Amino acid sequence: MLVNGLFGLFFLTTPFKPTEFANERCLSDNYYGTYGDTSLFLLSPDSECFESLPAAAPPGFIDSGSLSVLEANHQLMYIHKVPVQDNTDSLAQLTEALDRLNVPHPNSGASDSQTPFGLGSQDKYSFLHYTGADAIISVPPHLVPHIDKALPRSFKAYVIPTEPLSITPVPDEAIHRVKIWLKNLESDKEIASIVSDISIPQMRNDIRYLTGEDLGSPILSRHSFSEGARIAASWLRDRIENTGARCELRQFLVGFAPNVICRYKSLDEDAGTVIMSAHYDSRGSFGSVRHPGGDDDGSGTTAILAIARTIARKRIQFKSHVELVLFAGEEQGLLGSRHYSRQSAHPCSKNFCTETLLGELRDKGTNVTLMVQSDMLAYHAPGEHAQLAFPETIGTPEVAYLVSNVSSLYSPELELGYTAVCCSDHQSFHENGFAATQLFERAGPIADPMYHNTGDTSDRKGFDFNQLRSIAKVQLATLLHVAGYKIKPEDW
Ligand SMILES: *[C@@H]1O[C@H](CO)[C@@H](O)[C@H](O)[C@H]1NC(C)=O
Ligand SMILES: *[C@@H]1O[C@H](CO)[C@@H](O)[C@H](O)[C@H]1NC(C)=O
Ligand SMILES: [Zn+2]
Repeated sequence: MLVNGLFGLFFLTTPFKPTEFANERCLSDNYYGTYGDTSLFLLSPDSECFESLPAAAPPGFIDSGSLSVLEANHQLMYIHKVPVQDNTDSLAQLTEALDRLNVPHPNSGASDSQTPFGLGSQDKYSFLHYTGADAIISVPPHLVPHIDKALPRSFKAYVIPTEPLSITPVPDEAIHRVKIWLKNLESDKEIASIVSDISIPQMRNDIRYLTGEDLGSPILSRHSFSEGARIAASWLRDRIENTGARCELRQFLVGFAPNVICRYKSLDEDAGTVIMSAHYDSRGSFGSVRHPGGDDDGSGTTAILAIARTIARKRIQFKSHVELVLFAGEEQGLLGSRHYSRQSAHPCSKNFCTETLLGELRDKGTNVTLMVQSDMLAYHAPGEHAQLAFPETIGTPEVAYLVSNVSSLYSPELELGYTAVCCSDHQSFHENGFAATQLFERAGPIADPMYHNTGDTSDRKGFDFNQLRSIAKVQLATLLHVAGYKIKPEDW
């Protein structure tokens, strides 16, 4: 256990991939995750490992570390600067934003640590380590769920686990399977006809309900702690169950809206599991109660719903297990997907996660053969071509090749590319040794001026429903090719 007293800790951040250190025990035993293109290692300065490091590590490596003192029971958080085009958010603004969280609540006594904005002696955040653009902070656990609401839009906060993560590379066998799918990939007329059934008017209706643009929708926000997120979760469950799946609202942390996990029956019980996912929680501007999350990630969520609706209309029966999953807690640091993909290591301190539910896919040895996360699919700068991009860093390159080849077959209008935008829920699966990638709306950095903003609705310039439909077609075509399927007879 890491956060249990006042002690010094050496923070080491490197641009290297953790798998490159898999044979360097001292590092692999002290790995605390990858954030953007930075891997984090935490070492006790009086450990043998720390002493042996300068000799073992590449030149210059150790210079990227620094020593800090931790406050008792504080939670460590990694603040990652997301690549956003023309963005000027600075570290000074970050500090200012976090200072706002340290202002005591007007109705609370100064030492009341129970209220979210109370300010006691150990109730302040502190900066521990800078990596240039990014930062590591330590915060009292009760502030953790509120950090994302205060951050400038280009910063994203991740909870640093309290115990080291095991480095689990995607096995060669799993990559080989993806290569075989790619090798056997051929354009299929029936699949082309199925995916062309995805309907823009339907997607427009769905997304307007999720964002609250639909005046009949009670949703103001889908922030993980909001009532709207719970309404959205039940609504999504009901819609997807109507398409023949069995869904569960699975609670993963107290206070958070649940993951929505939906599963279609497989014709072959022994086959693997293919997962298509998005995150349905949202983030808005500081101080606003509106968090519509139209593009982020109402677009990915709507694509998943469009896939479900088409599965039902076209009477698809899969030959593998297929899961459509909508995660919560993404904006607080991939918390929903971390729980669903692994769950043996607690991603948070005891104070913060008062209760966790136990183990899913990895612990149970579920045979997940492919995971594709869609996060932000609809926006491109006005005047730009319709696009589809894949992550430059985190993910399985072979999965990106597979999906991009499927895209060339079924949505040739999409221009394909890569993005430095990286860390959505596929990261949780990739870290657990599952072949995974993310789909993103454009090559290059985030261009959406309404990213993490209360103006992120679907009815605006640059929000392209045609692109959203083209990408949803690619997702469904990938699913049909990889999972295999039969069409149920008419009178079924
Ligand atoms: C996992 O699923 C794939 C595809 O259905 C199958 O080829 C493979 O043998 C399965 N692996 C295990 C360990 O069951
Ligand atoms: C298709 O897959 C191959 C790998 O087999 C990859 O080199 C190529 O870039 C992919 N094509 C597209 C259009 O992405
Ligand atoms: Zn997102």
